[in-house]
Amino acid sequence: MSKQFSTSEDVICYNAPTLVLVCTKKDPQWDHVNLLDSVLTTQNMFLKAYELGLGTCYMGFLELLNSKPQVLKKIGVPDNYQMMVPFIIGHPKAKQGKGKRKKPEIKEWLK
Ligand SMILES: Cc1cc2nc3c(=O)[nH]c(=O)nc-3n(C[C@H](O)[C@H](O)[C@H](O)COP(=O)(O)O)c2cc1C
Repeated sequence: MSKQFSTSEDVICYNAPTLVLVCTKKDPQWDHVNLLDSVLTTQNMFLKAYELGLGTCYMGFLELLNSKPQVLKKIGVPDNYQMMVPFIIGHPKAKQGKGKRKKPEIKEWLK
């Protein structure tokens, strides 16, 4: 890992041209709802990006930005906002093949 970080390569965001930070207003009362909304928004953006032939990757590593308010401020996140979901959008090197789909295992139907 330290070897990877000692190169000039962008080992975190893979030189992706776009970094998206989904942010919401800070509000402890609504934090859980804001997180759910942010994740749902992100999922929709992932699906649209895929439709456009783009690739996405959730950047859990960048969660550390929430402990660096000065960096968030510098990139335009207002003080009263917090970052919920960081992700990158880029041009995939290879076309993603179809994954294998498992048959759904239906345990029980509730009537
Ligand atoms: C909680 C969590 C945090 C992640 N953080 C990162 C990250 O910081 N950088 C990264 O490249 N992938 C990260 N990933 C992985 C990607 O978002 C994605 O799930 C993974 O690349 C899917 O790979 P696969 O298609 O090979 O299964 C994270 C995944 C999870 C679930």
